[in-house]
Amino acid sequence: MSEWGDGTRCVRAGLPEAKPGDPFLPGPVFAAPYHLDPFQGPGASPNGYGRPDNPTRRLLEAAVGELEGGECRVFATGQAAITGLLLTLLRPGDTVVLPTDGYFPVRAFATDVLEAIGVRVLFVPTVGPYPSFEGVRLVLVETPANPGLDVVDVAALAERAHAAGALLAVDNTTATPLGQRPLDLGADLVVASGTKALTGHSDLLLGYLVSRSTELIAAVTTWRTTTGSVPGAFDAWLAHRSLATLDLRLARQSANAAAVVDLLAGRPDVTGLRWPGRPDDPAYPVASTQMRRIPGVLSFDLGSAERVGRFIEAARLVAAATSFGGLHTTADRREQWGDDTAPGFVRLSCGAEDTADLVADIAAALDAAGPV
Ligand SMILES: Cc1ncc(COP(=O)(O)O)c(C=O)c1O
Repeated sequence: MSEWGDGTRCVRAGLPEAKPGDPFLPGPVFAAPYHLDPFQGPGASPNGYGRPDNPTRRLLEAAVGELEGGECRVFATGQAAITGLLLTLLRPGDTVVLPTDGYFPVRAFATDVLEAIGVRVLFVPTVGPYPSFEGVRLVLVETPANPGLDVVDVAALAERAHAAGALLAVDNTTATPLGQRPLDLGADLVVASGTKALTGHSDLLLGYLVSRSTELIAAVTTWRTTTGSVPGAFDAWLAHRSLATLDLRLARQSANAAAVVDLLAGRPDVTGLRWPGRPDDPAYPVASTQMRRIPGVLSFDLGSAERVGRFIEAARLVAAATSFGGLHTTADRREQWGDDTAPGFVRLSCGAEDTADLVADIAAALDAAGPV
């Protein structure tokens, strides 16, 4: 599998062995209970009850696990995977390091729940400086961080964390497993929202966790079974079906981002442009060595909330929406969700439209938005 290119790996990921008469990707298995063997009970089959066991979910887990290079467990949402990781590993008295500039509900969870149960939380910007990891149980980074798109050197951080006896987890939502494989870079765990580019059609919620440690996977599986945060069979099947085109979608999204960045870099009415694939971006030196591909997400500042509104209203191909990584280009003014960003800060997620159409539409919408 590893000798194949990204497109081949995505198309083949998690597919069962070919059998005459069977579909390529079996349809969703809708079941709460399954028939049990009257004598052996659940011991006779891997399917006993839908919360711990579902064959559609297992195929998706095989697929994501192949792409990330580890054993995968999927969750109902990305947030369920991340909070599941934190609550599986952390006990009162433990210390966890979290990003100041990552997905904000993770920070809210840390202050509302983790600190309340006696976990010490250290917030550190993605670019550092990182404190000593002595006495730290878990370091969780998001790279590229959402929405500011800073990156951190995962291999260097893994070395530091391991030297101090800490575990390193990487949120791989923005990069996707085609953009980088944190486990290959030395991380112990990957968590992510599969809601974004991984599945990419803006029609489902999904989370996942991947590790090469059997003990960690066993602990997380127990957590998931006892708390019950599993995706349904239909969402798991849709996700697996969508995964097959990840390589194609990312290629177009990334090319669109590069072209939009070229346009925005030349406009005096756009400031604070960030995209880790741009050679003069502060994230470029690390991103260009650690990442295999740069995602279609960029950010910039249009000076005021009103101007962002006028820009989105004028655009025909840019939808106002949160989330990112989908087929349709979307823009999100992050301050409205509580991110610590300027009022005119926009996260733009490039979709799979034709590059020329998208660039022309964004240029016209910026013109129509007028001055700040
Ligand atoms: C980096 C990152 N991690 C985790 C999440 C949470 O994912 P979900 O919305 O699937 O719960 C998000 C959602 O935007 C995210 O951007």
